[in-house]
Amino acid sequence: MEYQASYLRLSLTDRCNFRCFYCMPEAGIQYIRRNEVLSFEEIAKIVHIFAALGIKHLRITGGEPLVRKDLDRLVEILAGIDDIEDISLTTNGSLLPIYAEGLKGAGLKRVNISLDSLKQDKFRSITKTNAFYQVMEGIDKAIEVGFQPVKLNVVVMGGINDDEINDFVDFALARGLILRFIEFMRITPLWRSDYFIPIEEVKRICEKRFKLREAGDNGFGPARYFEVERGGGRLGFIKTDEENCKRCCRLRLTCTGELKICLFENRGLALKHFLSEGVDDEQIMKIIKAKVLMKPDVTYKKWETSKIYISQIGG
Ligand code: 5AD
Ligand code: SF4
Repeated sequence: MEYQASYLRLSLTDRCNFRCFYCMPEAGIQYIRRNEVLSFEEIAKIVHIFAALGIKHLRITGGEPLVRKDLDRLVEILAGIDDIEDISLTTNGSLLPIYAEGLKGAGLKRVNISLDSLKQDKFRSITKTNAFYQVMEGIDKAIEVGFQPVKLNVVVMGGINDDEINDFVDFALARGLILRFIEFMRITPLWRSDYFIPIEEVKRICEKRFKLREAGDNGFGPARYFEVERGGGRLGFIKTDEENCKRCCRLRLTCTGELKICLFENRGLALKHFLSEGVDDEQIMKIIKAKVLMKPDVTYKKWETSKIYISQIGG
C-alpha cells in the first residue's frame, strides 16, 4: 500500500516568551524576519494542498504559537477547510488564560501543554520566566473551556526534574489530564548527555508507586500508553527509536514554509518559494508527493546530528 500521511504539524513562529534551556539559547538568537514567515493566507493555501493529499489532522506548534497575533483567526480559517477534521495545539500554556476561550470558539479541539516542573523555583530556572502560576491557570482554563483531551508533556531530565516523576502522575490524575513523559532527545546543539535519562528508567520509577497496565489502543503517535490502575488515568512514554519512525505519519511545516519529513531533518523542501514563484497547485502537489514518498525509508538516524533548535520546528 502506498504510504499515506494524515498528520501535519504547522510551526507558526520561532519566537517564544520562555527560554527553556534545552530548547532555545538564552541570548544571541537570530529570529526569522517577519517577512520570511508564512502569512495566514499562504498557510491556508498550503493546507488546502495537503488536505487534497489526505491530511486530516493539523497540530499548531511554534516556538510558542500563542505569541502569533490573531491565532484564533487562523484556526477559524483552517477549521473551515474541507477534510480537515481535527486541529490541536502544542503550547507552553502561559497565554491560555487569555486565549483558550477564543481558540475553542474558533474550532480548536485539543491542547498539549508542556510543563517540566511543578515547583515554582525550578520552573523559573528551566524556563527563565516567572510564568509558573500563569501556566497553572492555563491548565485550569484549558479544562474549563472543554478541550478534550488536555495532555501534559514533560521532558524528563536526570538531576533536573526526575525527582518529580510521581508528583506529575498525581497532578495529572487529579485533573484528568493525559500525562506524557518524553525522553530528552538528542536533537539540538543544546542537548546534554549528563541530563539524559532513558525513558525505561522513568517508567520503572512510576511502577514503584503505580500499577500500570498496557493500554490496548496505542494509536499511531510515538507514545506508548498505559492505564494507571489507581485513578484510571492514562500515561504515555515517548522516546526516539526506529520502531516509532516506522509508524510515524507526521509531516512538518516550518514557519518559513519548509516541509520536513522528519523532526531531525536539517533542511526541508522550500514550499514558500514555489508559492511566491506562482507554481500551480497541481505541480506543488507533485513535488510534495515526491518528498513524502521518501518518508517510509527515513528514520531519525539519518539526521542524528541535527543542528536545529526545537523552537524552530515545534517538536
Ligand atoms: N527532547 C524531547 N522533547 C523536547 N522538547 C523540546 N526539546 C526537546 C528535546 N530535546 C519538547 C518540549 C515540548 C515539545 C514541543 O517538545 O518540551 O513539549
Ligand atoms: Fe518521525 Fe523523524 Fe520522529 Fe522518527 S525521528 S518518529 S521519522 S519525526
